[in-house]
Amino acid sequence: AKVQHHDFVIQETPVKRLCKTRNAITVNGMFPGPTLEVNNGDTLEVKVHNRARYNITIHWHGVRQIRTGWADGPEFVTQCPIRPGKSYTYRFTIQGQEGTLWWHAHSSWLRATVYGALIIHPTPGSSFPFPKPDRQTALMLGEWWNANPVDVINQATRTGAAPNISDAYTINGQPGDLYNCSTKETVVVPINSGETSLLRVINAALNQPLFFTVANHNLTVVGADASYLKPFTTKVLMLGPGQTTDVLLTADQPPKRYYIAARAYQSAQNAPFDNTTTTAILQYKKKTTTSKPIMPALPAFNDTNSVTSFSRKFKSLRNVVVPKTIDDNLFFTIGLGLDNCPKKFPKSRCQGLNGTRFTASMNNVSFVLPSNFSLLQAHSNGIPGVFTTEFPSKPPVKFDYTGNNISRALFQPVKGTKLYKLKYGSRVQVVLQDTNIVTSENHPIHLHGYDFYIVGEGFGNFNPKKDTSKFNLVDPPLRNTVAVPVNGWAVIRFVADNPGVWLMHCHLDVHIKWGLAMAFLVDNGVGELETLEAPPHDLPIC
Ligand code: C2O
Repeated sequence: AKVQHHDFVIQETPVKRLCKTRNAITVNGMFPGPTLEVNNGDTLEVKVHNRARYNITIHWHGVRQIRTGWADGPEFVTQCPIRPGKSYTYRFTIQGQEGTLWWHAHSSWLRATVYGALIIHPTPGSSFPFPKPDRQTALMLGEWWNANPVDVINQATRTGAAPNISDAYTINGQPGDLYNCSTKETVVVPINSGETSLLRVINAALNQPLFFTVANHNLTVVGADASYLKPFTTKVLMLGPGQTTDVLLTADQPPKRYYIAARAYQSAQNAPFDNTTTTAILQYKKKTTTSKPIMPALPAFNDTNSVTSFSRKFKSLRNVVVPKTIDDNLFFTIGLGLDNCPKKFPKSRCQGLNGTRFTASMNNVSFVLPSNFSLLQAHSNGIPGVFTTEFPSKPPVKFDYTGNNISRALFQPVKGTKLYKLKYGSRVQVVLQDTNIVTSENHPIHLHGYDFYIVGEGFGNFNPKKDTSKFNLVDPPLRNTVAVPVNGWAVIRFVADNPGVWLMHCHLDVHIKWGLAMAFLVDNGVGELETLEAPPHDLPIC
């Protein structure tokens, strides 16, 4: 196994998109940022130099970080931010993960432009569990704002309203040639007739689940979130923000130009969204003309049936060991709420529905990040008063979560920094129940520090008697982000074998800001493996 060193310089760089130039926060002047390629078993050492005017942290999305929680990156959870002018070295080892992950900023909305792919090749000496592809390309889906994204979220926070929608979606940072001004820069993916390409698709958008397709070509799904899957063929993928999907594409069509396209899957009703399409071009190499590429059909923006039939096909490649007995059985509701505006507030700060402010919660607790310490530092140094550990394992009232009969009690969650304590080694089940307090939508729930099995999902209210018997305990997919069905539920299981403080949150970025998050505290035991490594000496403290 190798140790790879990289320097990430965070800096402001002029970036031109949609005919306009603005300064964007980048890594090494690149947007998207550099792709990291490692082998399973390698160690990465990334020194982040902050030369921008914002605080920043970098998160290695999906990397297990076994015993190296200090390198995980979420701001005020595992570290304080890297201040302008300062640096921090993230050091961690890839252990037992192969496929596609990514990295992104985990402060404010900086991940709008600060992100890149993290490709994990098989352990040296081993190979893919499918025929070696002739080519490989990472395709990162994103959102572009003409405005500074930090201003977009700050304005939303000030007014209590929803943030402005993006001005374009992007593939590898480019809106594509359906937009004016970006024809020349449109991403071209070359291929020769008969070749097979491994496309590593990553949804790096801030707030939008996306459909993805390639005109006239089948996509064979072979992996997701750096875990292998039983191959299945599909025309369309759906990825929630945070999710990755690896697909094989064979060039078995006439040698022409074909659009690779992505657009919104929008499950929330009556919510404004960016209804545009981004494109790249799959180009057969012998093709010399510049005829218009062939456009694929994409599902309607609200086509939940396509999403369901796609996600039901996900099965781990091999049979796996899913915890059968459960030590911590948790029931978490997730959803948006509305805060009544405090009387003393000016109207300008309450521009949500009917003069309210948006809020979000898990089990009626709206998560608040600390500002003077990181949670992990507070835990490790025994600093009192930063968090409490009474995050409720059940919602306060039982009600019809996805019907119209919603308890008023759930409209206004309590704010707090509450963690749920798990004993090291505990076998955990979490039922994630979507609610429709304001509106229901598909929430991509991401857990740091772990992969989990998705043993079941469905619509309506989770029914322990009926639904448990249908769980897949043989070959469920292993992921780090689950797209919880709109008006439905998903059940995940994992073993708490990684000590530390681990955030679980909605990967629609605005929902974190509104509080759709909580954290697990996996207590250090006494044995070597149960103990977190010592903090690095350059760890940023507040
Ligand atoms: Cu990719 Cu906490 O997130």
